[in-house]
Amino acid sequence: MNDGPRVGSTAPGDPARHEADVPPAVRLSGVSVGFGGRTVWSHGDLQVPTGGLVCIIGPNGSGKTTLLRLLLGMVPPASGSVEVLGAPARRGNPRIGYVPQRFGDSVGEAITGRDLVRLGHTGNRWGLRRDPGVEAEVDAALAAVEAEGFAGSRLADLSGGQQQRIAIAQAMVGSPDLLVLDEPLANLDLRNQRDVVDLLVTLREQRPVTMLVVVHDLNPFLPYLTGIVYLLDGHPHYGEISDVVDDELLTHLYGTSVQVVRTATGDLYTQARP
Ligand SMILES: Nc1ncnc2c1ncn2[C@@H]1O[C@H](COP(=O)(O)OP(=O)(O)OP(=O)(O)O)[C@@H](O)[C@H]1O
Ligand SMILES: [Mg+2]
Repeated sequence: MNDGPRVGSTAPGDPARHEADVPPAVRLSGVSVGFGGRTVWSHGDLQVPTGGLVCIIGPNGSGKTTLLRLLLGMVPPASGSVEVLGAPARRGNPRIGYVPQRFGDSVGEAITGRDLVRLGHTGNRWGLRRDPGVEAEVDAALAAVEAEGFAGSRLADLSGGQQQRIAIAQAMVGSPDLLVLDEPLANLDLRNQRDVVDLLVTLREQRPVTMLVVVHDLNPFLPYLTGIVYLLDGHPHYGEISDVVDDELLTHLYGTSVQVVRTATGDLYTQARP
């Protein structure tokens, strides 16, 4: 009798088996999307692996926000199928946390940070009932983004960096498996950009969560990325960093000359060529 390991076997509890069983975080099959008969992008055939930190890039108006809204079930595809975490995209999916573009503009300015985070949990603007279990989760989310000190202030009285922390807390409060963030670094100074990136990286270390982040500047995220979704000539693709962070591809994508630089210490960054 041969008691040796069976080649190709995957016993229960085996990490290889587990990996094979986990559906991709996002699966697009033959997807096109548009408004009023005008196509924004088409031929969406890609998979984003679960557990990654993935940026979404593309020029203004190429349909990055539309892609996120598709995953959130807020926009229906014109054709094809959209699967998120192994199930068809649907509105109000509690497994997804969302930080919208221009977060501060999309919510009332009179509301406090803490109330917003509680809304992220209950999803009900008028149901601000104090439930001890919910309050504990709100406290934990605020602590995770180090926002305890200003969470009682109205959003209108917070700086951009503070608002972004509240935005991330409200998206993380239900312990989502997928976090989608639309330009979370917009309008932040370099210090706050770095802080928000560090915060997201730390949150990923604390619990398994896939992150999809729309950005215009890849550089702050480059050291941490596991892949990139890019919208090129009206079609979305998913690629490895080494394939996407490429002079020719980025120059074509943005329609202006972009150079990829590798420093002596091996760090990678992109810059617009004069
Ligand atoms: N609800 C809508 N109704 C009609 N057209 C829309 C709607 N939402 C988006 N669009 C159009 O779809 C296209 C893509 O918009 P989207 O906001 O997804 O682009 P984006 O890549 O996020 O751009 P930006 O970098 O400026 O945020 C644009 O032409 C936009 O005008
Ligand atoms: Mg957008």
